[in-house]
Amino acid sequence: MQKLANRVADIAPFQVMAVMERAKRYQGLGEDVIHLEVGEPDFVAPEAVNRAGEAAIAAGKTGYTSAAGLPELRQAISRFYQQRYGVEVAAERILVTPGASGALLLLSSLMVNSGQEVLMPDPCYPCNRNFLAQVGAKARMVPCRTEDNFEIPLANLNDHWDDNTAGMWLASPANPTGSVLSQAYVAQAWEAVSQRGGHLLVDEIYQGLVFDGEDFTALSASDDIFVINSFSKYFAMTGWRLGWIVVPEWAIEGATKLAQNLFISAPAVSQYAAIRAFEDDVLAECEGRRATLAKRRETLIAGLNKLGLPIASEPQGAFYVYVDVSGVTDNAMAWCLGLLDEYYVALTPGADFGARDAHKYVRFAYTCDCERLEVALDRIAQFIARP
Ligand SMILES: Cc1ncc(COP(=O)(O)O)c(C=O)c1O
Repeated sequence: MQKLANRVADIAPFQVMAVMERAKRYQGLGEDVIHLEVGEPDFVAPEAVNRAGEAAIAAGKTGYTSAAGLPELRQAISRFYQQRYGVEVAAERILVTPGASGALLLLSSLMVNSGQEVLMPDPCYPCNRNFLAQVGAKARMVPCRTEDNFEIPLANLNDHWDDNTAGMWLASPANPTGSVLSQAYVAQAWEAVSQRGGHLLVDEIYQGLVFDGEDFTALSASDDIFVINSFSKYFAMTGWRLGWIVVPEWAIEGATKLAQNLFISAPAVSQYAAIRAFEDDVLAECEGRRATLAKRRETLIAGLNKLGLPIASEPQGAFYVYVDVSGVTDNAMAWCLGLLDEYYVALTPGADFGARDAHKYVRFAYTCDCERLEVALDRIAQFIARP
């Protein structure tokens, strides 16, 4: 009898899937479900980008590209780092990947040996640990606290770091907390990690979506930091499946070899479309959306404060709020399901993001407009107030 590989059993299904399935069922029955559980706002890709994709198809630009990506796109990304963040990043160090997901898979293969561990904050993006599992490695989750901005404490890093540690993976702005690291923290993290001979990865997929705090790139701290990014969030191009990784010069050859073997190339049409994303009109549109998200954030935070639901730490970026619901329940997952069953509001339970105090937290994604957020808040008020 054929059998699945053992690693499949080690991948825990996301708890939010149960929420999403139920939400879909209610929607099928005609209920007005408010979706605040998915990491994808109600924006579509910028119109000019879509047109550029259509033009690429019409011109037959549908073949493989070079493994590292179209030179014009890598140049455009390099210019963007220079213009927006004042950092020189040679286009040769940028490899275009199928989403940040492709970048994370590539980086796991590039930098982590099987049996090794990588430090990451608890809570963090849940797929990270599963990418590591694909190369026989493991995430070592470091419990992080609200009052520390969910940062891994660097002063006592030796409590977590040992000979088997390959590196540290951070994200800024972060999912699920929306917390933004400071430049100073990233520089200190780099010092701590490099002193121990490890690598530092900073996932900057929510870069640009900063409302409060510094919008910067970790590349300003060192050319030896690995950075991941994507067209999914700031450019609202989730389905185009396009991202990139910036690697140090000494890693270009290895990363290219892996890109050739893992993907051959990122999707060609998406790459041609994405070149258009760096022109001023599209960037202005993306900035307009950031302003829209900022208003939603204000509405949601004000509403949650009124409900007396403490916010884990004031989220400075991304489009998430991580909320402590322990004042109203001792089981966040059951609370999410109850809220959905009775009031048709879908949220993500904290257990998907880690273990520390996960039963106390839920993640709100402010993916719909302010009116809908007000309706959701009103329903939550009724759910909390019911006997
Ligand atoms: C922190 C983080 N990294 C990576 C990803 C993967 O994104 P994509 O593959 O769409 O670029 C996500 C998706 O939500 C994310 O939140």
